[in-house]
Amino acid sequence: MSQTIKLGVLGSGSGSNMQAILDAIEAGTLDAEIVLVLSDNPDGYILERARKAGIPAEVIDCGAFKTKFPDERQSAVAAQLKEAGAELVCLAGFMRLVKQPMLDIFPERILNIHPSLLPAYPGLMAWKQAIEDGATESGCTVHYVDAGMDTGPIIKQAKVPVVAGDTAETLHARIQVKEHSLYPEVISTIAAK
Ligand code: GRF
Repeated sequence: MSQTIKLGVLGSGSGSNMQAILDAIEAGTLDAEIVLVLSDNPDGYILERARKAGIPAEVIDCGAFKTKFPDERQSAVAAQLKEAGAELVCLAGFMRLVKQPMLDIFPERILNIHPSLLPAYPGLMAWKQAIEDGATESGCTVHYVDAGMDTGPIIKQAKVPVVAGDTAETLHARIQVKEHSLYPEVISTIAAK
């Protein structure tokens, strides 16, 4: 018999992917529970979405560091996730690089969703990179997190066409629609293993 997998979610922004995971749980297509949502951005809407759903949601305080995720913060976050019972950690628009010690504490148990067909366009604003590069196709990738930036083993991808007249914004919106089905689907597959 399968057991409901416990998820920790880390994000910095709107949290639409976290919402898609929640919606899939509510719809009964994903047997999971989000036990903790953490954000390095106190104003991230992801926190409000989580609280509205009754999920514990807290801020990761990185002090004066704008982009760095200091080691001691990573240890504290990993401990917090363990304490909450998280078995799988889902990065959903989390803007800091996760490294050791988090990777050691959750080996092959941290996922990320990235808005391109990796290895193409890693890093920031992948949708803008695709438009500027004249790509005719893009998409999204769910991958395991390793110490690099968007370099971990790819689990699954979904393609999205780039259409005439697309801007970075319209392409990102189309990619996000795919993200919202791909991420819950991959989590479900991993949970069933
Ligand atoms: C998504 O496009 C995701 O691929 C990228 O950041 C964005 C987060 O969006 N890593 P949201 O906060 O889930 O709405």
